Amino acid sequence: MTEPTGTSPRTPVVDAKETFRRVKRHFSPALAVAGRFTGQGAVEAAAEGSRVTLSDGREVLDFGSYAVALLGHRNPAIVEAVRAQLDVMPTSTRSVQSPVAPLAAERLTAYLGGSLGRVYFGCGGADVVEASVKLARMATGRTTVVAVRGAFHGKTLGALALTDNPRFKAGLEPLLQGVVHIDPDDPEAVAKVVREHDVAALVFEPVQAENGVRLLDPAVLARWCRDAHGHGALVVADEIQAGLRRCGAPSLALEYGLGVDGVLLGKPLGGGVLPVSAVVGNDTLFAPLLADPMLHTATFSGHPLSTAVIPRALDLVEEWAENGDMLARAMEQGLAGLREAHPEAVAATRGRGLLWGVDLRTPELAGGVLTGLAQRSVVVSPCLSRPATIRLLPPIVATETEVKEAMALLSDAVAEAALAAA
Ligand SMILES: Cc1ncc(COP(=O)(O)O)c(C=O)c1O
Repeated sequence: MTEPTGTSPRTPVVDAKETFRRVKRHFSPALAVAGRFTGQGAVEAAAEGSRVTLSDGREVLDFGSYAVALLGHRNPAIVEAVRAQLDVMPTSTRSVQSPVAPLAAERLTAYLGGSLGRVYFGCGGADVVEASVKLARMATGRTTVVAVRGAFHGKTLGALALTDNPRFKAGLEPLLQGVVHIDPDDPEAVAKVVREHDVAALVFEPVQAENGVRLLDPAVLARWCRDAHGHGALVVADEIQAGLRRCGAPSLALEYGLGVDGVLLGKPLGGGVLPVSAVVGNDTLFAPLLADPMLHTATFSGHPLSTAVIPRALDLVEEWAENGDMLARAMEQGLAGLREAHPEAVAATRGRGLLWGVDLRTPELAGGVLTGLAQRSVVVSPCLSRPATIRLLPPIVATETEVKEAMALLSDAVAEAALAAA
């Protein structure tokens, strides 16, 4: 990037061609092709709220960002919190105690209602999946972990064992041993597993976002949790994508009253600006760290610059909750209209709050819709495990007009893709 002389005083001039050359040379040629496609030849230059300005001066509407930009891009209050921490002490000595992460932990546990009082901070989602599995295994002295078919918990070696996607596991097996995947529709699935295994933990996503936005049945989850607890296993809800009011509630597991031992948060926890994640759990899950805090540490765990934004991010999520509910209704209505208007192309829509999946009838149609959306300057997220589903993730700070704009552009893109496929 060079001097800021682009479309606004803040927008830097960015060389897209050079960027793609570097991506191709240093990351991967396939990534360069994909990036050229989604940006239609342009790259990111700047962003604010629901909009990203590209290197060619176009503004795109961001209903994607893999769920990170819940509070929009560069939310001013978050940027201010970062600046304030940057001006005092962005990094900790890790020998002398920093006050920043403990305050974030206090705010986070209070935000979730106080029943889960312990916190471990990570930098990304897979990071805290790994931490929670380690804690559960150490706390119970058992090894088996029950995960759900269709799950996505990340791609590091341990988290990948819980993720149910053969594409990402090919050539890597054996991964972490002792992971059993259960049928998401079988209320008796946990009861069956505990008959044959000593289970350390049940780990589930209340909404399987990467699996095409599948909402697991709260009644099934309640039965699983009862059976897991009855067996002495711990229960962890992975709400890295669906938590923090993305799906309406601060935590769906807590809203459902499942009595989980831990909740995992990430993605928007850093206010859409910094990478930070957390295991928030009870004393039973955290018993190993209470006994020996050195059992799970990482250089950047509780990093002051990242954790400084958490109290502000939580306040903002609450301030915008009502707006989020209004946008959720607009999304639901808009997508019902989309289904009615394009039955030949749209097989189903599913979701809750600000997390929606649109099933196209074939992966090719989904590809056509993604092309159409890219051409119409709308960013959405594909689903890592469902190529026929596209995912819509509006920011909680978006406007109803922006939702309507996205719905209209999506409808145009679907019509065009359906025509091309006919
Ligand atoms: C539910 C869930 N868990 C874990 C992860 C992994 O997070 P990360 O990509 O930050 O490692 C994701 C990422 O999409 C996720 O959606």
